Amino acid sequence: MVLKKITWKAIIPGCLKSESSSFPEPKQTCSQRLSISDLSNPGSPISFSDLSISIFNLHVFTLQELRTLTNEFSKNNYLGGGGFGAVYKGFIDDKLRPGLKAQPVAVKALDLDGSQGHREWLAEVTFLGQLKHRHLVNLIGYCCEDENRLLVYEYVERGSVEDKLFSRYSAALPWLTRLKIAAGAAKGLAFLHEEEKPVIYRDFKTSNVLLDSDYNAKLSDFGLAMDGLEGDQTQITACVMGTEGYAAPEYINTGD
Ligand SMILES: Nc1ncnc2c1ncn2[C@@H]1O[C@H](COP(=O)(O)OP(=O)(O)OP(=O)(O)O)[C@@H](O)[C@H]1O
Ligand SMILES: [Mg+2]
Repeated sequence: MVLKKITWKAIIPGCLKSESSSFPEPKQTCSQRLSISDLSNPGSPISFSDLSISIFNLHVFTLQELRTLTNEFSKNNYLGGGGFGAVYKGFIDDKLRPGLKAQPVAVKALDLDGSQGHREWLAEVTFLGQLKHRHLVNLIGYCCEDENRLLVYEYVERGSVEDKLFSRYSAALPWLTRLKIAAGAAKGLAFLHEEEKPVIYRDFKTSNVLLDSDYNAKLSDFGLAMDGLEGDQTQITACVMGTEGYAAPEYINTGD
């Protein structure tokens, strides 16, 4: 369940140390990173259609292309679903786009009858289009056609930590693997908090931590993320958001 409550509160970013990443540096430096407000303000000089490979290093897909690569969103390709909508496995072949290698992908489609919408989709595109790190899931591209909103990610082989912990078909994770996962997820959070323009993730939970074939943790789902405090800022206008049972009770009650 996603909690939404309007409040005026300051949110103080954490200050963990991050490791160096094997990913290339993002195109913008931290201070140049675009915020959701840069893109959603009616007066913004950056148009919505600029959210493409030229600014964010993202590929723009058509709905028909995503239909084809997920086998018409077949239930055989269904990976899971959450507040945003259903997630399907798909395969990109090397002929689809110049510069886009053949690879499996996860395609997340907005449920048009659900509680999330364009804002969460835009947050995901804005944050993951600019933030690249080995402990964040890699967003490859998106689709925005009529009211349809889809996201195309790298396919992360072992699914979520939640799947691993609760599936009756998975063997129990050894403790060293659990520690590796915890450390990887913490490094992902530290990276977000240590950005010059920090990011508050707000949806840290086992279903949002994905695992690659080597059990490297990858944080996913930035629909509820927000920009943290910057420079001499002391207060942020923010809704309290998160998932009940995971968000700290004092944060839900007070927004601090
Ligand atoms: N990039 C990916 N690679 C592989 N599997 C994925 C990927 N993204 C999502 N999944 C699968 O899809 C499932 C649903 O993910 P989704 O983020 O939509 O929902 P959730 O995390 O369970 O719920 P919530 O909406 O509360 O975050 C995940 O648990 C995971 O198994
Ligand atoms: Mg999720």
